[in-house]
Amino acid sequence: MSELIQIIYISRATFEAGPRENGVEPHVARILLKSRKNNPRQGLVGVLFYGDGNFFQCIEGERSAVEALFSRISDDPRHKDVRVLSVRDIEVRTFNEWSMKYVPAAREVMSRVKAFGFDTFDPYLFNEDHVKEMLTLLQRISDPTLGRLNSTSPPPGEAHDFMGLTYLALAIATLALAVSCINLAMTMEWL
Ligand SMILES: Cc1cc2nc3c(=O)[nH]c(=O)nc-3n(C[C@H](O)[C@H](O)[C@H](O)COP(=O)(O)O)c2cc1C
Repeated sequence: MSELIQIIYISRATFEAGPRENGVEPHVARILLKSRKNNPRQGLVGVLFYGDGNFFQCIEGERSAVEALFSRISDDPRHKDVRVLSVRDIEVRTFNEWSMKYVPAAREVMSRVKAFGFDTFDPYLFNEDHVKEMLTLLQRISDPTLGRLNSTSPPPGEAHDFMGLTYLALAIATLALAVSCINLAMTMEWL
């Protein structure tokens, strides 16, 4: 039987942050591209936050797939001091629409971090409540890389849904026109 889990971990980047390209640090952009290519194949979703040289990532999916990815991530030399903050069973994927959502060190996050009592984003100082709040915040904030860093977000279904609605609207308009014509014909006693 399938078993869904969610893992949240933090780590410190080992690279020097380069100038942002389109608002995203280049190393982070490469990680996102790779994640968005790999994760959908494994049914994995989640969010990646990068701020002040630290990562905060949440990954959700089948236990075996999450564990396999986390093992790969742990061996990645682009970060160190990987520390798991939480692992739990979940009923549904909460980042269902994101193969890997990206949230930059947005003002909203940083002001929350300041409210926690910290000057910089240092998740190693977070307690359990901070972690929960951070996750809720990351679920709410929009992803500025949407539609730019890959082809899998927004989810592929979205374009089809839009086309589906367009066809439905056209069909309704055609039907309404046909009904009006019949009404007119009956009024004029053509039928
Ligand atoms: C902070 C961080 C987060 C990452 N997140 C993911 C991820 O969600 N999915 C993924 O496939 N790789 C992720 N990676 C990259 C993996 O460590 C690894 O390089 C990659 O999965 C290898 O994929 P490949 O075997 O297709 O080359 C992440 C790396 C870092 C440093």
